[in-house]
Amino acid sequence: MNPSHDSLPRHCEERSGEAIQGLAAVHLDCFPRIRSGVAMTPVHGPGAVSGQHRWLAMRIGWSLVLLSLLLLLGACASIPRSSLYQQLGGAEGVASLVDAIIEKSRTDPRIGGLFAETDFDYFRERLIEQICELADGPCEYTGLPMSDAHSGMDISEREFNWFVEDVEQAMQQIGLPLAVQNRLLARLVPMQAEVIRQ
Ligand code: HEM
Repeated sequence: MNPSHDSLPRHCEERSGEAIQGLAAVHLDCFPRIRSGVAMTPVHGPGAVSGQHRWLAMRIGWSLVLLSLLLLLGACASIPRSSLYQQLGGAEGVASLVDAIIEKSRTDPRIGGLFAETDFDYFRERLIEQICELADGPCEYTGLPMSDAHSGMDISEREFNWFVEDVEQAMQQIGLPLAVQNRLLARLVPMQAEVIRQ
């Protein structure tokens, strides 16, 4: 027998034969676990559930919760992550991004001077190819290797960081989600060694 039943007040036992007349007839002290919020079922009297049944119900409940979590995890794992190129908005998205990057960096008083002699039509096409390829898009970069492209400019680490700031602002301006911005930065930043001090 369940030892907790022994401590129930006597009127709980008596209620088995008694018709409940609205809420006033309900004795809260017949529901020992009501305060902990664990169960609303009386352990004695009408509607009582035996300890064994409650234990079984709890086990089934927890098994269902666990099963749902496993199914959810399985579903998440099988969703293919879209490529960075797709997340950037494909060819159109990459072109808009490059236009914004060029606009930001050429007008940036900290580094704009470095682009004084630049052929922007050529630069734009190469940067589009490069970012497209870097983002796993269907392109091939046909420009100079990074160290050759920046040779003789002696770009400092500071200048590199300013350029990255311009890229960040450009991504922000065209409304790329933060996660996508970070994904692209993670691929651009490692190129620092080939760009600075050349
Ligand atoms: C991850 C960073 C960078 C990338 C991906 C990048 C990409 C490129 C590409 C694709 C080109 C054209 C290559 C070619 O001539 O075939 C280029 C050239 C150039 N980049 Fe960068 N660059 C980066 C960082 C920088 C920085 C930090 C600066 C200056 C602060 C800079 C300034 C220039 C300039 C001035 C040119 C030469 C344009 C010309 O030929 O007149 N770049 N860059």
